[in-house]
Amino acid sequence: MKTLFGRHFLSFDELNFDEIMQLFKTAELLKAETRMRRFQPLLANRTLGMIFEQTSTRTRVSFEVGMRQLGGHALFLSANDLKLAKGEPISDTSRVLSRMLDAIMARIFSQANLETLAAYSSVPVINAMTDMYHPCQALADIFTIWEKRGKLEGLKFAYLGDGNNVCHTALISCAKVGMNVYSASPEGHDPDPAVVERCREYARAWGSEVKLVRDPKEAFQDADVIYTDVWLSPGQQGSEEERKARFMPYQVNNAAMKLAHPKCLFMHCLPAKRELEVTEEVFESESSVVFEEAENRLHAQKALLVHLIP
Ligand code: CP
Repeated sequence: MKTLFGRHFLSFDELNFDEIMQLFKTAELLKAETRMRRFQPLLANRTLGMIFEQTSTRTRVSFEVGMRQLGGHALFLSANDLKLAKGEPISDTSRVLSRMLDAIMARIFSQANLETLAAYSSVPVINAMTDMYHPCQALADIFTIWEKRGKLEGLKFAYLGDGNNVCHTALISCAKVGMNVYSASPEGHDPDPAVVERCREYARAWGSEVKLVRDPKEAFQDADVIYTDVWLSPGQQGSEEERKARFMPYQVNNAAMKLAHPKCLFMHCLPAKRELEVTEEVFESESSVVFEEAENRLHAQKALLVHLIP
């Protein structure tokens, strides 16, 4: 089997379709084994360092539990408790940590800093969310769609709301696997044009579409997957109250779900703000797969760790 040994995972752009499918097959196998409480020590004696500049529920627990289930260890490193907080350069931190760890997972605000960390690291660096990307989330998301719908190519994926880090990696991952991608945001909140351009390049290989639309109905119409995220992410300027009026037309509610395909999945990376980006009714509906999506963080990331860590 081809492997991703030793590679970084920084934005999702690194993976091609075959590699994504290999990760899915591994995730599917590991998920079935986990359900039977059978754990193979595929990463025995390996240690993952987990740098967090921000709080986390899903990412921290899924990586930590994942490493333990694979026979290895995970080391929680709050950025505030590292010498980084006292001004030690990220380049030095990276060279020190990569002499002791087998891989580094980092949730740090700045993508540029993450790329510096990776540039100086001799072990794989995994992006656990920056201001630009959230590739581990995207991997679990498209794995969930693949599990639920049995295919990806040709499905219509609609992202509604802020063109943020979650949006960027959702668009990249869906374009990479041949989905038709629609992204609807209020003016001034579109995803990064460079990301959209890359997605269009990926889509050209499939003959699929990547469309930015202003009218949310265009995105909702016949969608196979509807995805949203909070309207104000941690670290962003402004207030929720100020965003509410502008973003409310992009809310995922029953009227929106009625426009979509009858089997449409509702997805959200969590945590969600009910009655803002999604109504309670949709969040708790049969269309909602948000908790399976959250569980799949564990299985998809275990696959990623097995493929990346030599
Ligand atoms: N979706 C996600 O990354 O959740 P956490 O912030 O809880 O890790």
